[in-house]
Amino acid sequence: MLEEMYEAYGKIFGSDSVAEPFFSPGRVNLIGEHTDHEGGCVFPCAIDYGIYALAQKNSLGKLRLYSMNFDGDYDSPFEIEYDRITEKLPGPRSWVNYPLGVVSALRSHCNSFLHGVDILYYGNLPDGAGLSSSAAIEVLTAKIFSELLGFGIDGVKAALYSQEAENNFVGMRCGIMDQFAVSMGKKNHAILLNCSTLEYSYAPVQLGTKKIIITNSNVPHSLVGSEYNLRRQQCEKALADIKRVRDISCLCDLTVNELDELSYTVKDPVNLRRAVHAVSENERAKRAADSLMAGDLLTFGRLMNASHVSLRDNYAVTVPELDILASLAWEFPGVIGSRMTGGGFGGCTVSIVDGERVNDFKNHIGSEYERLTGRKASFYETGITDGAGRIS
Ligand code: GLA
Repeated sequence: MLEEMYEAYGKIFGSDSVAEPFFSPGRVNLIGEHTDHEGGCVFPCAIDYGIYALAQKNSLGKLRLYSMNFDGDYDSPFEIEYDRITEKLPGPRSWVNYPLGVVSALRSHCNSFLHGVDILYYGNLPDGAGLSSSAAIEVLTAKIFSELLGFGIDGVKAALYSQEAENNFVGMRCGIMDQFAVSMGKKNHAILLNCSTLEYSYAPVQLGTKKIIITNSNVPHSLVGSEYNLRRQQCEKALADIKRVRDISCLCDLTVNELDELSYTVKDPVNLRRAVHAVSENERAKRAADSLMAGDLLTFGRLMNASHVSLRDNYAVTVPELDILASLAWEFPGVIGSRMTGGGFGGCTVSIVDGERVNDFKNHIGSEYERLTGRKASFYETGITDGAGRIS
């Protein structure tokens, strides 16, 4: 792929370039969904699919960007002076808002923006599938700037500035999970991250002959912005109600039993269900990480399934297509566990499947899904990879 990218780079930015290659993975969250914004734990890993970039400094003092995925109709890059990066831009090349948001965040944290930068991107992550293409392009851009302009930003800061870009510039109130996972990923490990303290540890993902299979429902998760922000508000209301009788800083400060005792304080039953999800999912994520490290895949898989049920019944972020994919997987022999992954409202499920059964899994789930929904599913088998950075 890099060869084609160099060729495109030459055409778009001028042929005598010595651009350097970078890569950012996407992520799949194994468990711990919608806990990051409530101060809970998540358990994601960086995946083989992601976004590549070629980048170098320019002497124009401008930022120039081109995407091989979205800019096919253009033969020149999008370009902008740093001073003009002030707010989200409307228009057909809206993808640029992710890198622009990062540059805007970097400008408030780092000084010397002495050079312009040219970046060409190409990604193989399915778009709108909830595998964090936005976090990938954000963290990739942060790491490119850090390397080329010598900011020396570490992986955690790259994640935090990228989250800031998404929250303040793009306008999605995401938590830290996606940016952290794609920035700090480690080959063959999942990251157990406490999102309230940012303490983290790496857990080896030893699945033996089992495989991680991502199934894309091909329902684009378009509602994710507004519905996501609404779920956060509902959790905030539940937290405010509980705080009248107990001093906590986030919902995930509570255990399931403590929340149960305090449930009478939450005025709206819908808000209570949202809180029940966050608190129970936080416990599931921690137990699941322990089970995986102890080699207890049976418990790990059951917790994945339970996570889906809670996302469906308490948090209400699944759609019928995701429920169908999960139930089909639960009934299929050789599946250890299966759940929706990411923000929800479309996107993907993640399943742990016996290596020998993978082809049958794809055939069976694919045809039943199509029969029941009229849609075609896509399947991605993935390994676990390192976080974003320069590649050779
Ligand atoms: C999206 C957000 C993350 C996280 C997940 C749900 O991917 O970007 O911060 O909240 O949804 O777990």
